[in-house]
Amino acid sequence: MELKKEKNAVILAHYYQEADIQDIADYVGDSLGLSQEAMKVDADIILFAGVHFMAETAKILNPTKKVILPDLKAGCSLAESCPPDLFKKFIDEHPDHIVITYVNCSAEIKALSDIVCTSSNALKIVESIPKETPIIFAPDKNLGKYIISKTGRDMLLWDGSCVVHEAFSLDKLIEVHKQYPAATIIAHPESETHILQTASYIGSTAGMINYVKTNPNNQFIVATEAGILHKMQQEVPHKILIPAPSKEDNTCACSECGYMKMNTLQKVYDCLLNESPEINIPENIRKKALVPIERMLELSK
Ligand code: 13P
Ligand code: SF4
Repeated sequence: MELKKEKNAVILAHYYQEADIQDIADYVGDSLGLSQEAMKVDADIILFAGVHFMAETAKILNPTKKVILPDLKAGCSLAESCPPDLFKKFIDEHPDHIVITYVNCSAEIKALSDIVCTSSNALKIVESIPKETPIIFAPDKNLGKYIISKTGRDMLLWDGSCVVHEAFSLDKLIEVHKQYPAATIIAHPESETHILQTASYIGSTAGMINYVKTNPNNQFIVATEAGILHKMQQEVPHKILIPAPSKEDNTCACSECGYMKMNTLQKVYDCLLNESPEINIPENIRKKALVPIERMLELSK
């Protein structure tokens, strides 16, 4: 892309982006990989093809770069479930608790947190906290419940969830599995407990792609946002990948993130051309939000 060179820009894209956007990106990854990549960017502009909290995280980590997002309305139901004023009140009511927040939240929420995590390191981060220390985990209650089931930690959970991962239908999933009885079910930990209980592997988007690549089976039912199938299929062209079905009777028979899909190739082009919309964060919030993200990155090495 000529314009990318002209602007000295780097395009970072999440696995849930439209295939044509992933194809022009310099790096495609999960939340953790994208944060680590954003930190290393040396170019003048980071075009973030993802959702708002991801672009904010890039700006927090690499503040001298211009970070642009094709559509400022590309939010996240998890981030929206956790308003800073209510969260602050919740924390104040439990002053002895360590605050661990899933990266899917606003910069203001990160600024109120002790440590951030993503779906690829959540278990490790929680396990790094001494057993006797009580924990608040926010905003995803499904990921929180999954961590509790794995670690036995009794965490206080914020009542947030991902609309995309809560849309999976267990009845339809069982039906699809009857059609492909040899298929292995894999799921993202934002999914509800009854979906996770059917899965042989639970992990982040990058973890799921890696599992499909390294597992000898040739058929997988994939319980996460359907955009992941693009890169996954490129990695395993000979394998059969079936998206887990949604409760909705939609055309794709899968679950798609309306926020992620707000970004289009045309909007990516216009965004780069106009160097707008830009992500800006008040410096006092950015500095506070950086601390728990850096703690996470340190523990993820
Ligand atoms: P990953 O960190 O696994 O890519 O997940 C991001 C996300 O938004 C899942 O819905
Ligand atoms: Fe947020 Fe869910 Fe979309 Fe991920 S898939 S960005 S958690 S709404």
